[in-house]
Amino acid sequence: MAVKKGLFKTSVGRKNLMAITGLFIIFFLVIHLIGNLILIIPNSFFPIEFWGGVENVHDMYNAYSHFLVSFWPVTIVAWVLYAAMIIHVVDALLITIQNRKSRGEKYQVTDNSTSTWYSRNMGVLGTILGVFIVLHMAQFWLKYKVLGTEHDLYELVLATFKVWWFVLIYEIGIIAMCFHLIHGIESAHRSLGIYPKKVMSIIKYIALCFSLVMAILYAIIPIILYLK
Ligand code: HEM
Repeated sequence: MAVKKGLFKTSVGRKNLMAITGLFIIFFLVIHLIGNLILIIPNSFFPIEFWGGVENVHDMYNAYSHFLVSFWPVTIVAWVLYAAMIIHVVDALLITIQNRKSRGEKYQVTDNSTSTWYSRNMGVLGTILGVFIVLHMAQFWLKYKVLGTEHDLYELVLATFKVWWFVLIYEIGIIAMCFHLIHGIESAHRSLGIYPKKVMSIIKYIALCFSLVMAILYAIIPIILYLK
């Protein structure tokens, strides 16, 4: 029991918790991307009445967003997501403090030759991403899901991406997400299991491809909507 209690207090336990919450956030990001790709489907894709009176992208996106707030299992998953995001951030801060303490005690010089710049700057990238997510949630989630002051999510998203500097903020946030994902997926695997060197290099490659595809698909949404 005592072992279980202390499990997430050790450095390894904390890293495992970061890995598990991180993988759940990635699962959300994939679903979120698929949902938001609806925004860039051309209207010519709807030659006939498609499904339940959905005739165009506007209807389809609003049907999707209505589903998000009206189907209770989605609400439960959303609460799990918020918890995962909070735990992920708190855990990252605790690990950083712990690492700084033990590094200060053990050695002064850090060898940078074996790590990438983004793995050394996960804190900065995570902070940029965090600021982006807070801004993003204040813009859409708060107005639509919490306050209910906006009812037409499609119009709200479209109006947002008509402002060039919003598009720019999104692109910066998405670039930070990309590097955060590359390093995150790699280190989540490192935390959750011991793999041979060859398998680890395949995981690194998959992490890179996956993160790039995710970032490119996310990044084109604001650009296409701005140009529309
Ligand atoms: C660029 C394309 C994106 C668009 C158009 C977009 C759009 C939206 C919209 C309309 C909402 C409110 C409705 C909902 O809950 O789904 C939302 C929520 C959210 N978005 Fe995004 N998003 C984008 C990218 C991102 C990125 C890159 C992240 C994270 C790195 C992100 C994280 C979130 C989170 C955490 C929520 C709250 C989720 C919830 O309550 O279920 N989004 N987004």
